[in-house]
Parts: sequence; C-alpha cells; structure tokens
Amino acid sequence: MKLLRKTSNADRAKKHLFASQTTYYAKPLTLVDGHGTHVRDDEGNEYLDAFAGIATTTLGYGDNEVAEAVADQAKKLTHVSTLYLTDELLDYVEKVAAVSPQGMSKTFVTNSGSEANEMAAVISRIYKNSADLLALEHAYHGRTLYTVALAGQSQWRNFGPDMPHVAFVPNPYCYRCPLNLTYPSCEIACAKAAKRIIETSTNGAPAAMIAETIAGVGGIIAPPLEYFKVLQETLAPFGTLLIADEVQAAWGRLGDGMFGINSTYGVVPDIITSAKGAASGLPLGLIITRPELADVFKGPHINTFGGNPLSTRAARVTIEVIEKKDLIANAKRQGDTMLAGLRELQKRYPLIGEVRGHGLMLGIELVKDPKTKAYATEEAGRFLELMRERGILVGRGGRFANVIRVQPALVFDDNDSALFLKACGQVLDALS
Ligand SMILES: Cc1ncc(COP(=O)(O)O)c(C=O)c1O
Repeated sequence: MKLLRKTSNADRAKKHLFASQTTYYAKPLTLVDGHGTHVRDDEGNEYLDAFAGIATTTLGYGDNEVAEAVADQAKKLTHVSTLYLTDELLDYVEKVAAVSPQGMSKTFVTNSGSEANEMAAVISRIYKNSADLLALEHAYHGRTLYTVALAGQSQWRNFGPDMPHVAFVPNPYCYRCPLNLTYPSCEIACAKAAKRIIETSTNGAPAAMIAETIAGVGGIIAPPLEYFKVLQETLAPFGTLLIADEVQAAWGRLGDGMFGINSTYGVVPDIITSAKGAASGLPLGLIITRPELADVFKGPHINTFGGNPLSTRAARVTIEVIEKKDLIANAKRQGDTMLAGLRELQKRYPLIGEVRGHGLMLGIELVKDPKTKAYATEEAGRFLELMRERGILVGRGGRFANVIRVQPALVFDDNDSALFLKACGQVLDALS
C-alpha cells in the first residue's frame, strides 16, 4: 500500500531528526512491517533482511513466543526500576548464568551495548585501581564518551577534544596485517604487541583490554582461532583483565555456542558484554562476570530502565527459543553455506578481496584490485543499492566502508541463503 504524504520521510527526518542520525541508501528506507526474515517498506516492497537491524532481531521479526510474552507482560508490568526486584529480572539473570562460561554467575542489565561497555570499564578500573585501558585498532564499542574513546577508527572518534586515555593494540586483521606479516608464520605477533604497548603507552598496568570477538562495525574482522589465547597470555603478567565485547557476536550468532569467545575462540574472558540480539529486538544490554569483579563496585548505582520486566522477559524467551529450535546449529549451517557460496563468487569476481567470518557474522571485503587491495568504497555503496533493488538488505562496515556485512536473524533458512547468494552473483555481475 502506497502512503500518500505531502512531505517525504527524508524531508521530515531532515527537519526534526539530528543531522548525525544518518541512514543507509540514497533514498532512505522506511520500514512498516516485518515477518520472520522479511520486512516491508511504506511502498509495499518486501525485502529479505540479511542484516537483521544490525544483528539484533535474533529470532526474526514477530516471533510468536517473544510477541506473546511481551504482550502478556505489557498488560501486567512494563516498568520496574533497579530499586525493586522482579521475577522476570531474576529468571533472566539465572538463565544467563546457566548459559555463560563457568564462574561467570553475575549479571548487570542495562539498555544498550554502550552502557554495558561503560559499566565493564568502570568495574575494571575500580577492581584494578587503574584508569588505563587498552582497545584494538578498528574497534567500535558504542556512543558514550568513554566508549567513543575506546573506538579504534577515527571517523567514530568524533566527540570533540579531551577524550579519556586509551592505548591501542594492532588489530588481528590478517587480510591487511598491520605488522606486514603473514598468518600463521606471524605467530600472532599482533596479540604479543600488547606487551610493548603496555610498556610504552600506559601506566604499566592497564585495568583491562576490551576487544570485540569479531569486529562488526570495523568490517567483520575475524581473528585467527588462537588469537584470544595468545592475547590473554600476553595480558596476564600485567594483571590486565580481558573484556570480550559480544554486543554483536553473542546468542549463537557465531554458530558454535551462546558466546563466541569461549565456544569459537576457546577463551573464558573476565567480563562479557552484550546487547543487540539479546532480547531479539527489545532494548537490553548486559555485563556478565565473576562475583569478585561484579561485587567490587559497592554503588550506589541505578539504571531506571535497566532490567525492566518487558525486555528481560523477551530476553529469557530469546535464549529458550534459540535452545529449543537449535538455532546455533542453524547459524553454523547457513553461515557455512553462504561462506562457501561467496568464496565461489570470489573466484569469478576480483571485486571480492576476502570473504570472512563465522556462522551468521560474515563480511565481504570489496577491493578495486586484489593485488593493490585498494578500498572499493563507492562500489560497496553501489552493492548495497543494487541488493536493495533485488529485495535484499545488507549492512556495511570497515574503516573505509568497503566491507559488506551479512548478519541475518538466526532463523535464516536454506531458501534465504540461496536467495542471498543468487542476488550477490547478480550484483557482482552488474558491478563488473
Ligand atoms: C561491538 C559493539 N559494541 C557496542 C556497541 C554499542 O551498542 P549500542 O548501540 O546498543 O549502544 C555496538 C553497536 O553497534 C557494537 O557493535
């Protein structure tokens, strides 16, 4: 159904939204409806969503069990601040403890990933009595002042002067190794470089190092499988904690377990933060850690909406449905299918420099020429537009916005993966 409005939504947005709220596409997309892996716009066009609201609608749009739980909860109790307890909050944190790595039994619930990372930084600072933090080049951790200071990409470090001090460690970006080495003969020198950075650019004992398990905004940079083990060994002599930012990677997305850091990468960090897909589309962030770290901060601390019964109930149901429908295995199956299909396309189209990722967190790095690896930024913009014309939504990332991000709902099925690959082939043809 076409909506007859005098003013376009692009004009309405320009008039009343902040200029910093930028949208994808030359002609912004207004969504009105969603079902499963599909969304519909205000002109009646249907799209297969391979980005899932930035890796957020874990169970797809309009999942029955989440919708029923939320509707039921909305009639009873939508809001309770952190000053009171609810069974919804307690049921949720018990469930989180049951699926978290052993010993990580305590959770603080927030509304967003930024708040979760901010809290992780605060706890680490207090626990270690140290104000210094480490982060990775190419990192993205949110949009509060502290988390912007943790960003390892200049375009996201845009909050003005006087940012908190953070030292940056080279990213395990093997396709563009910052140390000009080659995996595996490099022996993960980028992780070992944390020692030099600590010794030269910090107070000698940084409280923590924060790292995305797979960098999302940075362009789906998936570290080698032994990376986090080497990193943790490097940090240990300095007593520096490891915070795994799983805002994008958690809840089965990487296809091996609930969290990628222990399931895919075999490491139990000191703190895990998450958000996005946790409540399958409702706002919820969280930090999970061991009791001695959780309890080092005596407060007082408050979060008006954090842990509200609506979001925590949706989040518990999300975990239950992931388990019941075996969606982690599905993430692996669909991810492997798309990875293989994209690698076939890479053989035919030199525009694809690299295809990488795990499960349903995949990236296609576009380059003007595989030899020079020149960033194909304009081509990536065209790729998004041409996919939209074929009824498929994908995301975009990377320091030079030349990486296509594929992060659909965990309910993506065989048909969706096939449609996605077919459209990619057509778009690459059109761009060649
Ligand atoms: C890895 C990572 N951390 C933190 C955040 C911030 O989350 P939020 O936008 O919910 O504050 C994001 C958001 O994209 C993210 O990708």
